[in-house]
Amino acid sequence: MQQPYDRIAAEWAAARVTLREQDRRLLDRMIEGLPPGAEVLDLGCGTGRPNAEYLVAQGFRVTGVDQSAAMLAKARELLPGCDWMQAELDAVELDRNVSAVLCWDALFHLERARHQRVLTQAWQVLPPGGRLLFSTGGSAHPPFNDTMWGHEFFYDAHPPEEMVAMTEATGFRVLAAEMVDPPTGGRDKGKLAILAEKP
Ligand SMILES: C[S@@+](CC[C@H](N)C(=O)[O-])C[C@H]1O[C@@H](n2cnc3c(N)ncnc32)[C@H](O)[C@@H]1O
Repeated sequence: MQQPYDRIAAEWAAARVTLREQDRRLLDRMIEGLPPGAEVLDLGCGTGRPNAEYLVAQGFRVTGVDQSAAMLAKARELLPGCDWMQAELDAVELDRNVSAVLCWDALFHLERARHQRVLTQAWQVLPPGGRLLFSTGGSAHPPFNDTMWGHEFFYDAHPPEEMVAMTEATGFRVLAAEMVDPPTGGRDKGKLAILAEKP
């Protein structure tokens, strides 16, 4: 079945190339203290660029999960040594623990009723001390659709303070909740990054 990002994989790959400095700082905090070769689960990995690419360059192994076959094909081409799996963000079946979980710019494409399942799944695959980094919507708003390259995409998010509370209620200690893109009050609803640790 064709997935939303299958239609824009080429445009996305051309546009999403560089890692912003503020995002890199958060990635660095997620992997801080991990031994070389530790495995990071990248949920909604897209083309693998720039996040998995950066993690691999730092010496980590990446397992990427995405629902879009076209995005995964680009990831396989870029980083053939990684493990790329087609699955839904909240239905990943892993038979092992990973050292860190990343879910960057993907959770907000999932209905908010499914967000708890993603947090629970991350909790289940992380050992004590393991870190989770994810981005979510940066303001309170109802679900909405927006267009990229002429195609419609679905967005949803819990209000930021509820997402922080939900992360804590799952058992995580929230290390940082940073408004990486403040909402503009218009079309851009903003983006909150949450870095959390399993105690
Ligand atoms: C905005 S892109 C972000 C990609 C990458 N994380 C990055 O930072 O460049 C969102 C990605 O999430 C994937 N995605 C969206 N909804 C998903 C779902 N329900 N299950 C798995 N992947 C999903 C899309 O296919 C797409 O590759």
